[in-house]
Amino acid sequence: MEIYNNHKRLFGAAIILFIVLTMFAAILPALNEEKNSSPLPGSKAPTADETAGKGIFIREGCIACHTQQVRNVDMDKMWGSRPGIAADYARIKRIDIWRNTAMLMGSERTGPDLTNIGVRQSSQDWHLLHLYNPRSVVEQSIMPAYSWLFEVKDYAFPGDVVLHVPDEYRKGITGQIVATKEALQLVAYLKSLKQVSLPDGKPTPIFLYDKNSKEAGTKKTSAASKVSEPQFDGAALYATNCQSCHQGNGEGLAGAFPPLKGSKVVLDDNPEVQITIIMKGYNGRVSEGYGVMTPVGTNNNLKPEEVAAIINHERSNWGNNSKQVTVDEVKKIITGFKTDNSKTAKK
Ligand code: HEC
Ligand code: HEC
Repeated sequence: MEIYNNHKRLFGAAIILFIVLTMFAAILPALNEEKNSSPLPGSKAPTADETAGKGIFIREGCIACHTQQVRNVDMDKMWGSRPGIAADYARIKRIDIWRNTAMLMGSERTGPDLTNIGVRQSSQDWHLLHLYNPRSVVEQSIMPAYSWLFEVKDYAFPGDVVLHVPDEYRKGITGQIVATKEALQLVAYLKSLKQVSLPDGKPTPIFLYDKNSKEAGTKKTSAASKVSEPQFDGAALYATNCQSCHQGNGEGLAGAFPPLKGSKVVLDDNPEVQITIIMKGYNGRVSEGYGVMTPVGTNNNLKPEEVAAIINHERSNWGNNSKQVTVDEVKKIITGFKTDNSKTAKK
């Protein structure tokens, strides 16, 4: 054949073949990959403190007990609003040329998944107390205390973040317990861990193997069909949304989180302030030494039905006994916020 006698053609043909193969085997897949795993529009690049905090997370071995991945299986539903995708990790870069990219997806889940902890728990006060001694906020916790991220000082200097540690966890320390820069960086990192919603047009992956839908399917013809409205369990909702700060006994933590037991706000027949606090957060009592309450209801996407169930739980427990609220009352007040966003909770 002519091509074998003409070295230019032979060489040209080999080059073209090589380019075409490279296109299909490497360049096009890489472009596609880049398109699918570029950072999501709503995500933010980590700040210097957050990056330093990630280093402390690695150094302290938090990954031994905490994952950062929401798998697309039903049991992971509680850790995020959707299953994780590659793009969620796109901002994770290698630290320097010597060290590889630190993927902190983890494989052990002794403690909760932290993919969305910045949304679930956005209070710096809570995170600091929890790191100082997890038992001080979560009585049953088996997480180790990271007390070396704090120092004891005779006096707090301006700008110091002082912890209001309950007496039984102070172990006789009389000075001020102050967060070190490292503790603040670690908390900044934890607070930055948030799932970002997907842009329009990007298909949202779904959670597979939904246990409830299977059950509902089989029960449809039997007793379940009689239950017309879903039931909202106030005690369970309180436990997931409020208990970490206000505690299971409603007594809060002295100096950090106020009691709801006997609280004027909770006992008030008019639920407006209480609903505003849940949906918009609260800072009216900072001067008394309490921290700031984050807008827990909005962060956790609580529905009016859920807010009503929580409020009624608070109003009928721990010796509290005040007027129950209806879902309609809650709905009316929450709709009011949407038209008047400037209003914040005042005492
Ligand atoms: C021995 C296992 C273990 C280690 C190590 C550990 N944790 Fe935990 N962590 C837990 C457990 C168990 C819980 C659930 C109980 C609680 O809230 O304290 C938890 C809870 C948490 C929570 C609250 C999660 C939520 O959904 O409320 C955060 C935040 C957290 N850990 C951060 C850390 C950080 C940061 C480190 C490293 C400095 C760390 N953990 C190390 C076991 C661990
Ligand atoms: C991250 C911790 C945290 C979580 C979670 C939290 N709160 Fe609070 N809450 C606070 C703090 C701190 C204050 C005091 C705010 C201030 O200083 O003004 C407060 C104040 C309140 C008050 C006012 C009490 C009074 O007598 O002044 C109510 C009512 C309340 N919270 C209800 C709730 C409910 C209901 C939930 C769950 C949906 C909840 N909180 C979740 C930290 C929290």
